[in-house]
Amino acid sequence: MQPITSSISSLLPLFCFLVVSIRVTTTLSVDDPQYSECRTTLTCGSVADIGYPFWGMNRSSYCGPPGFELMCEDDVAKIMMNENMLRVLDINPGQQSLKVAREDYWNGYCPSELINTTIDLDHFDYGRNLRNLTLFYGCYLPATSTFIFLTNCSINRTLVDVSYSTRNFLADPRPWVCPRSVLVPVYETAARDLEVNPMTMEQALRGGFELQWKVDTDECRRCRDSDGVCGYNQTSNSFICFCKDQPSESTCLPTTGTLLLALFQKHFAQLFAVAKLTGSLNMSSLMS
Ligand SMILES: *[C@@H]1O[C@H](CO)[C@@H](O)[C@H](O)[C@H]1NC(C)=O
Ligand SMILES: *[C@@H]1O[C@H](CO)[C@@H](O)[C@H](O)[C@H]1NC(C)=O
Ligand SMILES: *[C@@H]1O[C@H](CO)[C@@H](O)[C@H](O)[C@H]1NC(C)=O
Ligand SMILES: *[C@@H]1O[C@H](CO)[C@@H](O)[C@H](O)[C@H]1NC(C)=O
Ligand SMILES: *[C@@H]1O[C@H](CO)[C@@H](O)[C@H](O)[C@H]1NC(C)=O
Ligand SMILES: *[C@@H]1O[C@H](CO)[C@@H](O)[C@H](O)[C@H]1NC(C)=O
Ligand SMILES: *[C@@H]1O[C@H](CO)[C@@H](O)[C@H](O)[C@H]1NC(C)=O
Repeated sequence: MQPITSSISSLLPLFCFLVVSIRVTTTLSVDDPQYSECRTTLTCGSVADIGYPFWGMNRSSYCGPPGFELMCEDDVAKIMMNENMLRVLDINPGQQSLKVAREDYWNGYCPSELINTTIDLDHFDYGRNLRNLTLFYGCYLPATSTFIFLTNCSINRTLVDVSYSTRNFLADPRPWVCPRSVLVPVYETAARDLEVNPMTMEQALRGGFELQWKVDTDECRRCRDSDGVCGYNQTSNSFICFCKDQPSESTCLPTTGTLLLALFQKHFAQLFAVAKLTGSLNMSSLMS
């Protein structure tokens, strides 16, 4: 019985030494700058605390894949997708979804340039419950007055009439006859409101639409679980896991300090269990 108790007692100074030395090494070592940089999150207006895969503003481009750069203008988060500047209204990392609205349609339906909505399909998909709103410009068809017209637009100092549809009716001649039209996704509910009330146009456009982002979340989760920070290797164009000490392709290895500590704790626990079993452990003598 005695040998076990004394062996624990003799290990105590070693344990204390280990704890102290691990503390010292962790305080003295400097974190990898990429790790520190990508640990920061983005906040811009109502969009707060956003991390991987997004980058931009104060997060370097190696903190996420291309296509996920956020800009912040007058406290409004924005993302550029092909030709469209999109306002970011909301980001839901858990659902991997974001709600965006076309910046050029934020203040009405009369932009100075007519550009279709083309999302970056390499990185995003359209969300559910959306419908394409088609706005027709300069396409006045007196014979078919059943279409809903909006107040004429003044584009480049020229008045043009504007009508719209929220469904693709085969009988609708406009897609074939009208040379200028723009597709803007809107929510299903907004589309239904537009069918009966053109006054809801601004609300529909400002309501935006949902996108899902397509990024492998498993590799990032594994990296985070190993205390790493997700990032992007711009040389190999692939995922990278930034660890406290150095980058890794997948996950972070435990540091020498934590390994030793874990080993020691395991060892200590075993001795403790044996001692308890044999009934020879006297806690107060151990602590003294
Ligand atoms: C970026 O960081 C600087 C200081 O490091 C801070 O003043 C600034 O507000 C930050 N900008 C954003 C957009 O977070
Ligand atoms: C208005 O003029 C600009 C510049 O000339 C041009 O790029 C744009 O396409 C015009 N907009 C329309 C709707 O014709
Ligand atoms: C937008 O897309 C529709 C349908 O694909 C097309 O008919 C129209 O010409 C496009 N408009 C512009 C401005 O490119
Ligand atoms: C809207 O039109 C685009 C381009 O034609 C298409 O990719 C998308 O699936 C359409 N969305 C809906 C909800 O029909
Ligand atoms: C709108 O423009 C069309 C021609 O493009 C014209 O016939 C119509 O009178 C205009 N409507 C208004 C309210 O200005
Ligand atoms: C990025 O990938 C390249 C090519 O595979 C590799 O040589 C480099 O070490 C990686 N960068 C980092 C920071 O690991
Ligand atoms: C543990 O040790 C202390 C002092 O060494 C002693 O007073 C106490 O009786 C011991 N307790 C047991 C359960 O052996």
